[in-house]
Amino acid sequence: MAQAEVMPVMQQKRIGKPGDPCVMVIFGAAGDLTRRKLIPALYNLAKNELLSREFSVLGVARAKMNTEEFRKKVADDLTEFATGSVDSDLREWFVRRMHYLQGDFKDKNLYSQLKELLEKIDKDHATHGNYFYYLATGSDYFGPIVEHLAEMGLMETENRGWRRIIVEKPFGRDLESARALNKQLLQVASEKQIYRIDHYLGKETVQNILAFRFANGIFEPIWNRRYIDHVQISVAETVGVEGRGTYYDQAGALRDMVPNHIMQLISLTSMEPPISFHADAVRDEQAKILHAIQPLSSEEVLSRTVRGQYGEGVVDGQRVPAYRNEGDVPTDSRTETFVAMKLAIDNWRWADVPFYLRTGKRMAARHTHIVIQFRRAPFVLFRDTPVENLMPNQLVLHIQPEEGISLRFAAKVPGPAMSLGAVNMKFEYADYFGSQPSTGYERLLHDCMIGDQTLFQRADMVEAGWCVVSPLLDVWKALPPRNFPNYAAGTWGPKDAEDLMERDARHWRNSEK
Ligand code: BG6
Repeated sequence: MAQAEVMPVMQQKRIGKPGDPCVMVIFGAAGDLTRRKLIPALYNLAKNELLSREFSVLGVARAKMNTEEFRKKVADDLTEFATGSVDSDLREWFVRRMHYLQGDFKDKNLYSQLKELLEKIDKDHATHGNYFYYLATGSDYFGPIVEHLAEMGLMETENRGWRRIIVEKPFGRDLESARALNKQLLQVASEKQIYRIDHYLGKETVQNILAFRFANGIFEPIWNRRYIDHVQISVAETVGVEGRGTYYDQAGALRDMVPNHIMQLISLTSMEPPISFHADAVRDEQAKILHAIQPLSSEEVLSRTVRGQYGEGVVDGQRVPAYRNEGDVPTDSRTETFVAMKLAIDNWRWADVPFYLRTGKRMAARHTHIVIQFRRAPFVLFRDTPVENLMPNQLVLHIQPEEGISLRFAAKVPGPAMSLGAVNMKFEYADYFGSQPSTGYERLLHDCMIGDQTLFQRADMVEAGWCVVSPLLDVWKALPPRNFPNYAAGTWGPKDAEDLMERDARHWRNSEK
């Protein structure tokens, strides 16, 4: 057995133990996700001493390349996409762990070669027979890949170390296909081996929602229908479809963002306290709340949801084309690039507290935040104060690009009269903890290497997310939109989205920009 080489140690503090020795097999190793996120994330783990010294990557893709060329590509990708400085010794150590296998994911022969190569790499890098397979391919390949792996015995764990699969999104395109994919996966692997990834759960600020709610004594007592007027979640992006027109036009904003990322944000914000931070304890509570979201009836889809598509406009001072003029998008596309909706969670904590959600491309500013708006104080004492100064308290969890928490409250404006103004108390992550640029995938990859599934989706959670959006998919399919494009790029979305809130005498919080 070959000796593991010594990994150069960087001057960085390790927070946690390194992942288990293992081989990471990346299907789709020549693609965008690998070079922009996975490679830089693995490098960051190595830099923080969180990667085992007995670690290796086997990249698998259709692109014609040999291992040497793949190593060169990885080194170049690191230079381009690393989130911080790159140390040349560590990079050298890192790229020597890379291997490559070219082939077609649907071709059975690929898998016999894969098996042989894996056994060799396992010996050379002393990875103890631990393998995890990262499916960074188009979703059509997920099923065939796992079936072939199983046929080759590459999912079996007996006396062989562990075997895990990370499945990227999109996990299905509706409830039925998500169920079919779960079934297919569960035929060849146990739930404990399946890691359905959602990169939102890799974000520090998303993980902090749990710490904020459950590690502090003062918020949980008021975190309910008695004190909260409504919750709003916005995931606004300024980017367009970024060369992903083919995928995006099939998906649309609803499928792309809601059953996955937005459901994570809702469940963490509204779930009951878990009995521990063990994977299933947390996921049981998340699943319960997802099941408590009331599915919309067809009438409610019409009155409580809004879809939009951007026309041309100006974003960050630049003129940008309409969605229908983006590459690989049909000029008569009816795909939505914006969605807003009002949902209800029918349980004792949240009955009658509306949850408003919106997400869209090419909006006026980039921000992801969760706003908890509290009920008004009885303003009998302030009858003479202009109504716009009587703003209800808002607690805002800023997820990105600002990372922090702010609380809006009323304060007296200095002077002889009792007049009020809204002020903000603000905590910013960077002020306290500095900023450690990361891709968001570090924690998730490391969790998979140590067998912690807490931040991954269980089959029932994924299906519950699709249950929420199913009625929208059905009604929208039956009634194609006739008014697209209905918002200009660089704005906050269609007017109907404003109306959705204003009908309830509420308003979206837009970022200050
Ligand atoms: C991806 C979507 O899952 O998330 C993209 O497919 C979207 O369309 C992206 O832009 C947003 O992620 P982030 O981390 O930039 O908020």
